[in-house]
Amino acid sequence: MATSTALTSRPEWQALKQQRSELQSVPMTRLFEQDPERAQRYFAEGAGLSLDYSKNRITDQTLEALFSLARACDLEGRRDALLSGAPVNITEQRPALHTALRNPGNTRILVDGVNVVAEVQRTLDHMQRFVDSVVNGARKGYSGKPFTDLVSIGIGGSYLGPKLATEALQPYWNQKIQCHYVANIDGTDIHETLSRVNPETTLVLIQSKSFRTMETLENGKVAREWFLSQGGTETDIADHFLAVTANVSAAEAFGIDARNVFPMWDWVGGRYSLWSAIGLPIAFSVGMDNFRALLAGAHAMDEHFRTAPLEQNLPTLMALLSVWYNNFWGADTHAILPYDHYLRSLPEHLQQLDMESNGKRVTQEGSALDYESGPVIWGGVGSNGQHAYHQLIHQGTRLIPADFIIPLQSHNPVANHHANLFANCLSQSQAMMAGKSLDTAKAELLADGLSEEEAEKLAPHKVIPGNKPSNTLIMDRVTPETVGALIALYEHRTFVQGAIWNLDSFDQWGVELGKQLGNRIMPRLTGTGDSSTDSDSSTDHLIALFRSAQRP
Ligand code: F6P
Repeated sequence: MATSTALTSRPEWQALKQQRSELQSVPMTRLFEQDPERAQRYFAEGAGLSLDYSKNRITDQTLEALFSLARACDLEGRRDALLSGAPVNITEQRPALHTALRNPGNTRILVDGVNVVAEVQRTLDHMQRFVDSVVNGARKGYSGKPFTDLVSIGIGGSYLGPKLATEALQPYWNQKIQCHYVANIDGTDIHETLSRVNPETTLVLIQSKSFRTMETLENGKVAREWFLSQGGTETDIADHFLAVTANVSAAEAFGIDARNVFPMWDWVGGRYSLWSAIGLPIAFSVGMDNFRALLAGAHAMDEHFRTAPLEQNLPTLMALLSVWYNNFWGADTHAILPYDHYLRSLPEHLQQLDMESNGKRVTQEGSALDYESGPVIWGGVGSNGQHAYHQLIHQGTRLIPADFIIPLQSHNPVANHHANLFANCLSQSQAMMAGKSLDTAKAELLADGLSEEEAEKLAPHKVIPGNKPSNTLIMDRVTPETVGALIALYEHRTFVQGAIWNLDSFDQWGVELGKQLGNRIMPRLTGTGDSSTDSDSSTDHLIALFRSAQRP
């Protein structure tokens, strides 16, 4: 298995460094002029998605070197280990079997001798019965009225994926159940949400794999008190509260009826869990048929990832291009730019997926990396971003590779909006690539009637260097299948990057320290603990300010 030293001293790594210096001053526009087939050749398809990766600073030699690096890192072996349920989460000795959650049921995958695919199918059937009975009105609230709202309480992976998919599939909403999400420990979040719903017709879903997450448990308690103070009784809790967790006993101790606890498993990472019962809000919003179609789309991408040659493999191509810019061009960030209102939460979901997975500093063997690992993921919906941060992409000093994501057809063909949106999306990737030269900038100013001297002075400000790389991902429409495939594509892209960098992409020890320190600070804020301090003067000062602000 590769170590960090082995990675950077591999001949494939050295070949890529050489490629980088050869391509340093080659404009992409020239590569297009030299190869009229470039757009067709640098185009790949799978699971209903198409990727145009021609606007990248690559040649056939670069791609060959990237695929050689992937093979040298045993990408195919690592992929097969992931998909077969090997303990790829090294530090926690667990498989990462999110792909089993969308496996249609005709494969056996054993974890500790148990066929997890069969367990998944049983849980899906449980979800189906529950969701159908709520949506068709057979299951009712304590006062006999059908349910109208669901408050989903969870954070991180127990929040971001369901929220993304629920929003993305709005055209498929059944209009029976309105889903609301509460995540953080800011009281405003739960206060505002509960003030919008009626306890008589509201289900409360507590989503926590561990059932130990402070934000979720505290918000769950507030929801419980709210329910009891608004007319519900302890007995009614059984009809109104449900949970998804791998810690069933803690959910029951919280007061949730065992029949309303949906299982999660250790072999599902939080940020990969929307495909499990954590996806219940999606199912309540769009019905189980559409939820199963979402799983089918993700499964199609799993099959593509498993079977397509690396050269045509969408997650592999996108991951290798990210490695290329991250490790050989010094790109610190990567922009996710969905040109579709329904996909507006994709950047936020991918932040957790990618940054929690690949924000690591040591190899699987524990040695410090001597190369960069995961970049900062950021972005937002087009065309809004064009009037905000795209300026920095075009003229800032940093290299920011971007993924443009757009459907060919809109669910809402309002006036000429979709053509305008598409034109904007294409114009951005074109502007990033082509830029504007000093001569053109000056000629435009002269044509506008400026004097030679004025044009000379102003032109440098109007230069756009170009040669900024981007991918364009397209799909016919935003459907359950394409949304499933899109999210699974990024999951596998994340995995491939981690495989090249030799990381454990499935643990997240970095988030633990903040939790530990938070637990030490909390009693000092409330005055219920030891006031002596082992902390720093800044923290002490801020604690004192908080405490004095709470005095009547
Ligand atoms: O603290 C980070 C994290 O562990 C994420 O990985 C996870 O998705 C989130 O917290 C929520 O965890 P849980 O589902 O156990 O409440």
